This record gives sequence, C-alpha cells and structure tokens, in this order.
Amino acid sequence: GISPDRVSPLEVSLAQDNTLPALFLSFPVGQALANAAIDLSTKATVQLSIHAKDLPHFPVGNICADTPTGDPTKTIVIGSHSDSVTAGAGINDNGSGSAANLGLAVTLARLFRSPAYPKYKYRVRFCWWGAEEIGLLGSEFHVKQAKTANAVGERLSDYLVNLNYDMLGSPNYMFGIYDGRTARNDTPPQALPGSNKITALFRDWFIRNKLPWDYTDFSGRSDYGPFLAEGVVAGGLFSGADDIKTQKQRDRYDEILGQGLGGISGIIHDPCYHRACDSIQNINLFGYEKMVQAAAYVLEFLGHEDDLKTW
Ligand code: PHE
Ligand code: ZN
Ligand code: ZN
Ligand code: ZN
Repeated sequence: GISPDRVSPLEVSLAQDNTLPALFLSFPVGQALANAAIDLSTKATVQLSIHAKDLPHFPVGNICADTPTGDPTKTIVIGSHSDSVTAGAGINDNGSGSAANLGLAVTLARLFRSPAYPKYKYRVRFCWWGAEEIGLLGSEFHVKQAKTANAVGERLSDYLVNLNYDMLGSPNYMFGIYDGRTARNDTPPQALPGSNKITALFRDWFIRNKLPWDYTDFSGRSDYGPFLAEGVVAGGLFSGADDIKTQKQRDRYDEILGQGLGGISGIIHDPCYHRACDSIQNINLFGYEKMVQAAAYVLEFLGHEDDLKTW
C-alpha cells in the first residue's frame, strides 16, 4: 500500500536552494506540481483568479490534480498551502506539507498504474493552496467557487473529506492531530462526529506505532477552515509553530521515543517559524517522516473505506 515506506517525502524536494527567498520557490514548486499533475490526472485545474496586486511575486494560484479514477461525486480533497511568508524560504511552513502532499500524489499515481493495487471508489483531489499566509485566500476562494456552479466543474457537495497538511517537520516537533472532538463554532454548538473519526484514525496510527501524539487546535487557523465552516468533514496534522513545548510534553515524548529524543522544553516547536532561518536545516527528518507516514495511512484507509458519505 501507500503506507508507510513507499512514500519518500523528500522525493520531490521543495528546498533545492534554500538561499532563494520564498517568492522564487514558487517557480520550481510550480514546475514540479505541473509535472505531478500531468502524471496523475486527466484534469489538472489551475486557478489563477486570485490576485494580490500589492504582492506581485506572491504565489497566489491554487493548483489541483485529480485521480482519473474514483467517483467524482465522492471526492477526498488533500490540501496544503504552497506559499510562505516573505521573511524566508518557508521550508517547514509550508514546504513540508506541500512536499508531503506531492509525495502522496506521485505515489498514488504510481500505485494506481499497478493492477495489484485496488483502485479507490473515491476520487482524490490533491490541492496546493495559494495565499494562505495572507488570510486563507486560496482555500477560501476554492470553497466559495465550489459552492456555485463553475467552469471547472468543482462542487462542494462532492467533497466528503478535507485533509490538511500545514507544517509537518518542526524541529522541536509534536505529533499534533487536529482535535475533531471540539464542537463547531455554531449556535448552538454542534459536535463534529465525522472530523472526530479522522482524528481517531491518526491517533490510532501513532498509538499503534508506539509514538507520542497530541491533540492540536482545530479552530480554523489553516486551509481546512473554509471547508469545516461549510460542514465538510476535515482533519490533518501539525507539528507545531509558535507555542511552547512544555516539560510534561517533553518528558512524555522522551519516555515513549527514548531518552533524549523528546526535544527541548521551554522553547517553541519551531523557533524559525515565519523567519529567515526556516530553511532545509529547519526540518526534523524523523518527525517529518512519521507525519508523512501517518498521512499516507489515513489516505489509504479512507480510500478503502466502504461508505465515507455516512461519516
Ligand atoms: N496556519 C499557520 C501558518 O501557516 C500555522 C499555524 C496554525 C500556527 C495554527 C499556529 C496555530 O502560519
Ligand atoms: Zn505560516
Ligand atoms: Zn502554514
Ligand atoms: Zn504545543
């Protein structure tokens, strides 16, 4: 299957040259994505309708690539933002999630060419969102566009699940799982049974692999937000940004992973978050690979699930 060792998260490196500012990374990324889209898809949609005129070099487009098989009215959307802040190359935020997403896309495309690998009954749409950092503009645009009939044939009602990967390789990482137990922000508050099932899938994988894990904020501070707000089941992973690894958390990670592997307490998960030093050196490879394996597991599980529509 996809999981765990067939996905090489660094198969497509977004960090060929981490001396380049984030803006320019959009070119090699764009090329790699275009190639993957051709590899994967009968239809790759590139939306260039978002413009941030005051930020001329900001990569603002969304790129999506679909599996050619699977029921298009039952679609799993996997997203990660491909932009970063202008301060640095943005390798952890969010080259890590973008590369993971691309690794999954390329691997699934390869697997689907083998007759031995059972095709999914669902379509999988891999998306790279633009302009997350300036307010979730890319994903917001996509969801808004999918709500009404549009030229590229996107329909929100076709979307069964959104998986989001934003920051997977933080140097002082946690294995953070979006907390789908939380009630949505509606009045009256509504529980999120579907999203909580996604949370449980990730949690089971970390437990089964004898790894520590944490629930993490699911309030909409990344591109799953617009999907969740429209009632689409959502989930994803997050290795931590600007909040502090506590002593308790460090000790728990230390205990499970082995002495000395628990990271550093009293500092934030990613000291280079939104800074110039978010380069290829800013990735914890061990943590990153586990996150990608968890992502691969969940995609494969959902792909073979009988009736996602009831989630
Ligand atoms: N979405 C944030 C970003 O891209 C990451 C983040 C999520 C940070 C949640 C903190 C809390 O920068
Ligand atoms: Zn960011
Ligand atoms: Zn981010
Ligand atoms: Zn934390």
